Amino acid sequence: MDKEKKVYEVFQNISEDYDKMNDIISLKQHRKWKGNLIRKISAQKYTSILDICCGTGDISLLLAQKNPQAQIYGLDFSENMLAVAQRRKQNGHHTNVQFCQGNAMQLPYADQLFDCTTISFGLRNVPDYEQVLREMYRILKPGGMLYCLDSSYPTSPIIKPFFKLYFKFIMPGFGKFFAHHKKEYQWLNDSTEQFLSKKELAALLEKVGFQQVGYHSYLFGAAALHYGKK
Ligand SMILES: C[S@@+](CC[C@H](N)C(=O)[O-])C[C@H]1O[C@@H](n2cnc3c(N)ncnc32)[C@H](O)[C@@H]1O
Repeated sequence: MDKEKKVYEVFQNISEDYDKMNDIISLKQHRKWKGNLIRKISAQKYTSILDICCGTGDISLLLAQKNPQAQIYGLDFSENMLAVAQRRKQNGHHTNVQFCQGNAMQLPYADQLFDCTTISFGLRNVPDYEQVLREMYRILKPGGMLYCLDSSYPTSPIIKPFFKLYFKFIMPGFGKFFAHHKKEYQWLNDSTEQFLSKKELAALLEKVGFQQVGYHSYLFGAAALHYGKK
């Protein structure tokens, strides 16, 4: 099965448990990392922000809340993940956020439309990282910012074996126990293992044309926030 189809099925299957499981498998750390991302973006008072691979919409909705001056667009290809996002939007009464179904590989937006674009725990899921980063570059206005938050393998030889053990065996076990979806949570390990190192991702951002590229590492390098300016 090709990667895109497999990823689509994974997220279609786990949408209802996704938020609960995110808290469990990251020991709620993902909230801290996302909070940091939202603070960075919100400090800039952008007017148009695109959240790619928005999933159940937590980042899009927090951006909408913290940026009442902005229009936020959340895009994902999974109808089931978007259905959860829509439900959360209605519960939160946000009017400046729109969710839309689409593929990150071919964004359904004109060139130079957005001040800022973000992708969180999404890039490692797409079939061609460079193609998605090129699309993100294309839809940004000159001077616009890209933020990419994703999981990663720690580089320290002391820490790495513990993370490997956790990602490979404990996390899929949690997936089986709490959500009855072991196979889907195994994908989280596989996609992280196959993903670019932090340095490789920074180099790819530069190759695509981003400037002032850098990254912050979290939890011994288990996640990283990359950024770059068009
Ligand atoms: C791990 S979830 C991340 C959700 C959310 N951004 C977060 O941080 O919790 C990855 C999301 O990427 C979406 N996705 C994966 N490949 C995609 C693609 N090619 N186009 C659009 N969405 C995609 C999946 O449907 C899923 O909702």
